[in-house]
Amino acid sequence: MKKLWGGRFSKNTDKLVEDFHSSISFDKRLYYWDIQGSIAHARMLGDAGIIPKEDSRKIIEGLEEILEEIEAGQVEFDLSAEDIHMNVEVLLIKKIGDTGKKLHTGRSRNDQVALDTRLYLRAEIETIQGLLQELLNTLLDLAEKHLETVMPGYTHLQRAQPITFAHHLMAYFQMFVRDRERLADCCKRLNYSPLGSGALAGTTFPLNREQVAQELGFAGITMNSLDGVSDRDYVIEFTSCASIIMMHLSRFCEELIFWSSQEVQFIDLDDAYSTGSSIMPQKKNPDVAELVRGKTGRVYGNLMAILTVMKGLPLAYNKDMQEDKEGLFDTVDTLKKSLLVFSPMLATMKVNKENMLAASKGGFTNATDLADYLVKKGLPFRDAHEVVGKLVAYCLSKNTSLDDLTLEELQGFSPLIKEDVYQEISVYTCVNKRNIPGGPAPEQVKLAIEAGRKTIKSFSNQG
Ligand code: ARG
Repeated sequence: MKKLWGGRFSKNTDKLVEDFHSSISFDKRLYYWDIQGSIAHARMLGDAGIIPKEDSRKIIEGLEEILEEIEAGQVEFDLSAEDIHMNVEVLLIKKIGDTGKKLHTGRSRNDQVALDTRLYLRAEIETIQGLLQELLNTLLDLAEKHLETVMPGYTHLQRAQPITFAHHLMAYFQMFVRDRERLADCCKRLNYSPLGSGALAGTTFPLNREQVAQELGFAGITMNSLDGVSDRDYVIEFTSCASIIMMHLSRFCEELIFWSSQEVQFIDLDDAYSTGSSIMPQKKNPDVAELVRGKTGRVYGNLMAILTVMKGLPLAYNKDMQEDKEGLFDTVDTLKKSLLVFSPMLATMKVNKENMLAASKGGFTNATDLADYLVKKGLPFRDAHEVVGKLVAYCLSKNTSLDDLTLEELQGFSPLIKEDVYQEISVYTCVNKRNIPGGPAPEQVKLAIEAGRKTIKSFSNQG
């Protein structure tokens, strides 16, 4: 097929080169946005009198038909037409004849691809925000049920202090709220139309850039034609937002895997979200959680890839930048699939409250509280720390816990300890007394859940 840019060439493109540089196999995914962008451009060309109104109308009708045909699966894209932009143009010329050749007036594929990617990303961000919203709601519903479910909190994966399961879940809630905000922020920055930047230096045609931007729902236009075609910071910013979300999901997955182990048994993942072993009949594996954790790696990889592609590029467009797409699409797909499966996996898991409680009673999670008790009785904290340290060592040698020592045994370490100690170091007291904003006391977590519901509502209002 004759190339749309074939005028100055006397030889055909080598077959290997055609294969190598063609992007249609993956950028065909942009067809919808490419056509929307072309429709807005064609309308503006007509309105501004750059092409006859009648031609503009014909082009728009042709593009609308092509869109329908693609959606009906009737279109075979052509590898030799390189990319989605030229494929659509070829289809248009085939459909409406020479008038179709006027579509590309005052435009370059360089500003076209930047436009398409921004439009695509804006729509995908909205979908991802919806999926995050579902996850946030799932977390709130689950937290509401577990305000009083005591579990051990960990540092260094060693039992540290008692908290509640609701408190633990709400920690993730806060992370995913920030992730949602980060995406909104990324979207705000990318929502400017680069069309009119041309290949790099704008165009001599009096394009109405604002009209195109408005028709496509942008907040405005990019302010420098070189910048409009040369940066991919929106791809990088989105991929880094996605990496952070995957990192949060991955940490959560690690905990689900730990909690569902035979050794811990805090939760049972639903059969529908686990898989078996082909050889060991007894196995039920947390594969979904492991896969989300594993897929985090490829999203980080995509981020490193695009950062590296961009780092040495002179202004303005370079073909290297075509390498932004596969990683971006893979990031979008991976993130969406991970979020989609994550919320129902959480919502369907069984929480073993008794095991959480038993674990929080072992491991001396109330040791700090015993030290605080002694401080309230007048002992300086550092001395109290020492006394409780010795008590813990004593318990370890007797294979018992602080609560199970007799009053005489306790008083052997400090005469300040009285009968009221047992009440003071029960795990329930330990949790309830941490009644400080942001703390695990049920009263505080309830407030956090209420605030969380309001936050989600405000997201919905923003759209
Ligand atoms: N397929 C190209 C890309 O994704 C479109 C822009 C091509 N521009 C050019 N002058 N070769 O980057």
